[in-house]
Order: sequence, then structure tokens, then C-alpha cells
Amino acid sequence: MSVVRFSVSLEEELLKELDEYVKDYNFANRSQGLRYLIEKNIVEKKWQCNNIVAGAVVMIYDHHKKDIIARANEIQHDYLNVILSSQHYHLDHDMCMEIIAVKGKAKTLTGLADKLISIKGIRHGKLLMSKAE
Ligand code: NI
Repeated sequence: MSVVRFSVSLEEELLKELDEYVKDYNFANRSQGLRYLIEKNIVEKKWQCNNIVAGAVVMIYDHHKKDIIARANEIQHDYLNVILSSQHYHLDHDMCMEIIAVKGKAKTLTGLADKLISIKGIRHGKLLMSKAE
């Protein structure tokens, strides 16, 4: 299999975390660590596709970026049938945390979470899922 090189932009803090992760797990280099993380996440995603699951999407963002809130709202209105509730916490002057409780097909929840997490400007986003049947 041919190997393709590409460049990645990361916040300094995140890069520091990656380097620590690479060191802790004795990976030869960043590429090896990243490869492992990507494979692990994609395999997990596939594994969860056919199950009914419950979980939460957690997002952290700066509320001064108005586009984020508008876009997140728009997306959530397209997924009414899987969203159980959402909670908003004001963390400090700038940052907000939103926790969206969800239940439904893993595939649907993954789609929802991918859309939310990929909104430009989101500081941190994660989907947690557990089997619910
Ligand atoms: Ni807030």
C-alpha cells in the first residue's frame, strides 16, 4: 500500500498532547501514533453502526462566534427524532459547553455528531455512545 504524506494544522496544546501520547505508547513517531488513533476511531465507528445506542454529544466553543450557535441549532433541528435533551453551561466569560443527550441508530448519531463537531471554530467535540437495547 502506498503511503501519502499530508500536512495537519493543530493547536499547540493539542500537538503537545499528541507528543505525550506518542511517548506514553512508545510509538516510533507522530505518524504512527496518528495512524493508530485514526484506525481506532474509524473501526469503532463501523462497529457501532447497526446498534441502537444512547449517548451524548459534548461540545465546547466560544459563544462570541455567533455562526457556531446558529449552525449547531440548524443541525439539531434536522435531528429532532434522536435528540432527547440539550443542556448549555456557561463555563467562563468566553466559553460554553453544550451536552446533547441522544438515542437512536449509531449511524444516525454518528452523522449528527460529525456535523456538529466539524462546525468551524468548535474548540472540542466528542460523541459518547453506549448500547441501549
Ligand atoms: Ni454559554
